[in-house]
Amino acid sequence: MNCNGSFPTVSPYIYGTTRLGDDTIPLSQRVDMAIHAMEAGVWFHTSRQYGAALEVLRMAFDTNPQKIPPLIAKIGGETIEELETSICENLNPLNLQHLPIGQLCLGGALAESFASGGDCYRSLRKLQQQGIVGHFLCEVFPWTSQIALRALQAGYADSLISGYIFYLNPLQRFASNELWELLQQRGERMIAMRTVAGGDVYRLRDVPGAAWKPYLQERAVEVAPLFEQADIPDWASFCVSFAHSIPGVVATVGSTARSQGLAAFFKATQCRKTLPPELMSQFYALHARWAAQTDAHAEPWTM
Ligand SMILES: NC(=O)c1ccc[n+]([C@@H]2O[C@H](COP(=O)([O-])OP(=O)(O)OC[C@H]3O[C@@H](n4cnc5c(N)ncnc54)[C@H](OP(=O)(O)O)[C@@H]3O)[C@@H](O)[C@H]2O)c1
Repeated sequence: MNCNGSFPTVSPYIYGTTRLGDDTIPLSQRVDMAIHAMEAGVWFHTSRQYGAALEVLRMAFDTNPQKIPPLIAKIGGETIEELETSICENLNPLNLQHLPIGQLCLGGALAESFASGGDCYRSLRKLQQQGIVGHFLCEVFPWTSQIALRALQAGYADSLISGYIFYLNPLQRFASNELWELLQQRGERMIAMRTVAGGDVYRLRDVPGAAWKPYLQERAVEVAPLFEQADIPDWASFCVSFAHSIPGVVATVGSTARSQGLAAFFKATQCRKTLPPELMSQFYALHARWAAQTDAHAEPWTM
């Protein structure tokens, strides 16, 4: 747990802004979506990598500066200079000076410094002391789990990292088995990404091409019967309850460009329940198997 004040209470559903960067959707619809999510008072998750999402957000923010939501933004690079540049690339288009939560996406020498307790800690703490970034989350993928694991096992992460953020939904758990076990043992805070795993489970299972990789279609085949066991009428509600049934998860990040989609996320959050332990155990077993059989062998960015 880091020492820069207490971690803020994030909203249990965080609006993910990927869809705001989709320029096949009319600009006015995307700005309206952002305004709608803003008015609801939820946190936002964003990145310079999501097309013009930041510009869309700025248009929404300018309509009601009092309602500018707290943000998690992806910041990173292979050196501390690249990371500082990426903070500016996120904040400047939004005309903001402070990032409440920075999601550390570290590569190359910077990732190695993080894993081995190197100089990056001093530089990252300085960003906190200067009031530029409030808290840091460590982003994890199957191919970067080892970096987080080393930092955590050696105790380096304790003084800086407030939690871990990765794909965590019924079809994906993007932390290696070893890292996952340690996160659970230590009761670490987690933010779950991709609430609905990219869309309705039956669509992922049955519509050719709906799943962007074959492994997701194959997982949907295994997950659909478990979803049915839960007796929850819609996929979004199931997925929000799923994320919040995992110890340590404080929020789930999902994206939509439709107002009905946003309404579904809000309703699902309000009505969320803890799923039965026997059902969750079946998911934990699936996730452990997938992590060992598939995720552990994946080349970076292939899944
Ligand atoms: N490395 C990273 O940091 C990283 C990577 C991936 C994602 N993320 C974050 O997580 C957020 C969510 O990720 P994501 O967009 O990949 O996954 P997601 O939220 O699981 O899926 C979004 C997709 O699901 C559809 N959808 C939304 N609500 C639905 C519902 N109720 N029923 C069926 N389909 C629904 C959306 O379509 P419509 O727009 O048509 O509703 C969209 O195509 C991103 O916006 C981003 O903020 C971060």
